[in-house]
Amino acid sequence: MRKPIIAGNWKMNKTLSEAVDFVRQVKALVADVRDIEIIVAPPFTALQAISREIEGSTIELAAQDVFWEPSGAYTGEISPIMLKDVGCRYVIIGHSERRQYFGETNESVQKKIKASLAMGLHPIICVGEALEEREAGRTFDMVKNQVIQCLEGFSPDEMERMTVAYEPIWAIGTGKTATPQQAEEVHAFIREQLGQITNRQVSEEVRIQYGGSVNPDNISDLMVQPNIDGALVGGASLKAESFSRIVKFKKA
Ligand code: PGA
Repeated sequence: MRKPIIAGNWKMNKTLSEAVDFVRQVKALVADVRDIEIIVAPPFTALQAISREIEGSTIELAAQDVFWEPSGAYTGEISPIMLKDVGCRYVIIGHSERRQYFGETNESVQKKIKASLAMGLHPIICVGEALEEREAGRTFDMVKNQVIQCLEGFSPDEMERMTVAYEPIWAIGTGKTATPQQAEEVHAFIREQLGQITNRQVSEEVRIQYGGSVNPDNISDLMVQPNIDGALVGGASLKAESFSRIVKFKKA
């Protein structure tokens, strides 16, 4: 059984006081939730404060990116050991915004995964096609390339510690969600690819989140799909009320 995993990716939002305020509200709203893994991914500047704030709660901490070297002359970068030190359990790697604006490639994603696993972090690896690729009928090719180039070479044991997030770029921040069927067919395809890289048993254990305009109204229909195990939520994760409604999708 794959435990549902709902993560809020705050992107470049919230000052320290806003972040603390927000997480206090969420903590109260989801205090009774036990059957869902709940993750928040604040900006680097708020990690330490949020780490303290969620101590003793069921909320887990993720970073939005990481660099692959452990330390050294890499101005502006943050290493896996620093994320671990501050209390992160998860790290988002290869988000399409990093690929689009900051030159992230499948190769750098793979290095970041490797370094993060070595520190005991759980990577959340983002893949997904652009609109032109979908319209050209290249969705599966694109996603397959990303999955193989980012994940090939990892052992079954390493693979089990990862989560994959399928985020079609055309659905991110656009209000245009993939239909549950569109998402499900790509999720099933990703699981098949994971099975080929490792084995069937491992691929059945890896959780695959959907991301792209998830909100309290569409989460339930997405989550009933057999291969959708959770959500990576951007915009709707910034308000405590909507994020907690997404986390509590079953009770909606
Ligand atoms: P969105 O972002 O929910 O605002 O579409 C999702 C993401 O980028 O992770």
